[in-house]
Amino acid sequence: MKVLVVGGGGREHALVWKLAQSPVVSEVYAAPGNAGTASIGTNVAIEVDDVEGLLAFAVSNGIGLTVVGPEAPLVLGLVDRFQERSLRVFGPTAASARLEGSKAFAKATMRRFGVPTADYGEFDDPEAARAFIRRLGAPLVVKADGLAAGKGVVIARRVEDALAAVDDMMVAGAFGEAGRRVVVEEFLEGEEASFLAFCDGKTVVPMASSQDHKAVFDADQGPNTGGMGAYSPAPVVTAEIHREAMERVMIPMVDGMARAGTPYVGVLYAGLMIRDGALKVLEFNCRFGDPECQPIVMRMKGDLVPVLEACLDGRLDEVRLEWDPRAAVCVVLASEGYPGAYPKGLEIQGLEAASSLPEVAVFHAGTRRGEGGRVLTSGGRVLGVTALGAGVAEAIDRAYEAVAKIRWPGMHCRSDIGRKALGRAVEATDG
Ligand code: AMP
Ligand code: GLY
Repeated sequence: MKVLVVGGGGREHALVWKLAQSPVVSEVYAAPGNAGTASIGTNVAIEVDDVEGLLAFAVSNGIGLTVVGPEAPLVLGLVDRFQERSLRVFGPTAASARLEGSKAFAKATMRRFGVPTADYGEFDDPEAARAFIRRLGAPLVVKADGLAAGKGVVIARRVEDALAAVDDMMVAGAFGEAGRRVVVEEFLEGEEASFLAFCDGKTVVPMASSQDHKAVFDADQGPNTGGMGAYSPAPVVTAEIHREAMERVMIPMVDGMARAGTPYVGVLYAGLMIRDGALKVLEFNCRFGDPECQPIVMRMKGDLVPVLEACLDGRLDEVRLEWDPRAAVCVVLASEGYPGAYPKGLEIQGLEAASSLPEVAVFHAGTRRGEGGRVLTSGGRVLGVTALGAGVAEAIDRAYEAVAKIRWPGMHCRSDIGRKALGRAVEATDG
């Protein structure tokens, strides 16, 4: 079977790497892909939001399964369009992907299904938002309703900062239509974790737990990024938190979405805030996390294709996932200046030395092939250096040993990925 992976980040390289290992897969395409996916399969120069272009490619090339990485094409209705043409495609429909595409919709849905989340208000009118902010007091969080490439969330330590965010989003239109409506919510303290599950519209099969590192600098300092590293399993997801995440979040959401006539098929990713043994949902994503997908896929045993197909066919109750008992750690290497503006086209050295280390996979994100086999930077997050180890400490050491072999001018990474897990016992929560 020919498989198409939509996207060009570390998540998509990890998916291509895993799918290419399947005995039923003859060829893997990535659109648009990166230098890493090109080393395994074939890159196709179609952008992720060009739904009609992707559809035409899938039809004319006999693609048997399309797997969608990023949220934008899902929110645009790629899955609906492919289904209209009877193509097999993994991911939620536009109606289900609204859980990520509209924060107001996600909050209202959580409230409706009794899922624990921060108190909030939703506003189309800046004056009403300002009044709510003054009443709530700081700290608080202002979120653009629509997709804003991960930049639409402002954590306001002072009321003035929240008011400025309202002006920015609602009046000045910093995020266009995506920010004309905002969600204002209470600030939650605690530790974050990523809870991802496969869903077939009825059944929820959780993946191994993971934790992302959103801030650009060590010790969670500096602005938020798409994610500077991740590891799995995450000990903060205790057996009790895991049970709560299933019983109070995932199952009510999937049951509720089915009752609402929009059954959820694909990966549902709950961003959790955990404090004193209790959890609240910060957000839903309608896809695999990036970088979380990289350590998760490295720990996933067996063939991914039957799992994705079981989701499409409503047979997920027959699936049991198996996980490598070892830990995996992914350290993201980023371009100078990221998450702000950054240079492109710089040559990356040491890729082979890094990826030839045992139990290491160097997943590419913002890379492209240059002349003469050179690999050049082409994005903010450039590589996800991922390693397995007997425990998280060993995985950290291996990942950073590989990181030390790679360089390009201005490359930077966090030096503390996975550190929160050290010294904490891991309870058995996989699967
Ligand atoms: P979101 O896209 O809604 O997950 O927000 C992005 C990031 O902002 C989250 O991963 C958190 O680090 C932070 N965040 C969002 N909502 C809250 C909240 N209510 N309290 C504290 N931090 C938050
Ligand atoms: N790593 C966070 C995300 O994928 O949204």
